[in-house]
Amino acid sequence: MEKMIEFFAGVLVALLVQPLLKLFQLTGGNGKRSKQDVYGMDHAMLNLRLDTYWLNMGLWTNGIESFAEACENLARRVGQGRIKPGDRVFDFGSGCGDQLLLWIRMQPNCHIQSVTAEEAHAEFATSRIQYRGFSGKVDVFHGDALNLDSWRRVVSLNAAEGESEKVALWEDGTVDSIISLDACYHFNTRREFLALCAKKLKQGTGLLSLSDIVLGAGGEEDQLSAMDRFYLHMFCSMSGVPLVNLVSLSEYKASIEGAGFHELEVEDISKDVFPGLERFLTAQGDKMGPFLNGTRWMQYGTGMKMFLSWIIQKRVLRFVVVHAKRK
Ligand SMILES: C[S@@+](CC[C@H](N)C(=O)[O-])C[C@H]1O[C@@H](n2cnc3c(N)ncnc32)[C@H](O)[C@@H]1O
Repeated sequence: MEKMIEFFAGVLVALLVQPLLKLFQLTGGNGKRSKQDVYGMDHAMLNLRLDTYWLNMGLWTNGIESFAEACENLARRVGQGRIKPGDRVFDFGSGCGDQLLLWIRMQPNCHIQSVTAEEAHAEFATSRIQYRGFSGKVDVFHGDALNLDSWRRVVSLNAAEGESEKVALWEDGTVDSIISLDACYHFNTRREFLALCAKKLKQGTGLLSLSDIVLGAGGEEDQLSAMDRFYLHMFCSMSGVPLVNLVSLSEYKASIEGAGFHELEVEDISKDVFPGLERFLTAQGDKMGPFLNGTRWMQYGTGMKMFLSWIIQKRVLRFVVVHAKRK
């Protein structure tokens, strides 16, 4: 009797699970899979390489075609030469930790405190850092960049008994280098972020390194049609960018200098960022399209691609790399 119940339970589960599997299944090539085909194209999943988790717009120079390489290329442009042995580094908006691993490999003798807003990212970054043996050197916090009281250190799964969430953040005027890679346009507001950086960095020597987004020549109020303005507002609200952060290049430079920085270099690298990312999204969509059944790709394959072609065509935004020193 027990055996029969087991058998019927098995059949029932198979009947219920089968349609679910179909729903999420990767379909092969043009989606064809006949009944006698054993493998189909599901083994595409076995061939996916997920050893990086970058999430920036990338710097698409030197014929780079891969997303991870473009993201690392941008990170290097922002952070290369900005960390010395023994430095205290603050990283704001560190995502899943790829840039933290890059910084600590570039300069193994430094210490990093980093923060990122999404808990899943912070946890994942922590486990990657721990796995590679950098736990004592890199602390990842989850919280809002501008609200230091909200920062909670992510305690690793293998944490020693009693290991605390609390680690003292470095005091004002003691940090050597602050880096924010493709993140600070999210902070509410960037002006407050710059003030915080000025407060935390060592006077006279502290370095600020950013990649950021400001308005382009076609994005200033008088250049935009009502429709374009509506589109820009929609983008800001959907992607968590406070509208007040989208300022003109001259206002941007003035706000950095006004916060207490000099030796300011702002490089407009838009032409090496937006078109490359747009090309990549098209190519990636073409490669994955036949395999992936799902709507998740739409945010990139449709939403972001349309947005990029609009900002390229109308020069609405600029992508900039910023280096400055604390006065
Ligand atoms: C475009 S992603 C860049 C991630 C990472 N820097 C990279 O290059 O892969 C923006 C990052 O900023 C973080 N972020 C956004 N708003 C934030 C805030 N208020 N405080 C801290 N981090 C924030 C997000 O969680 C995300 O990790």
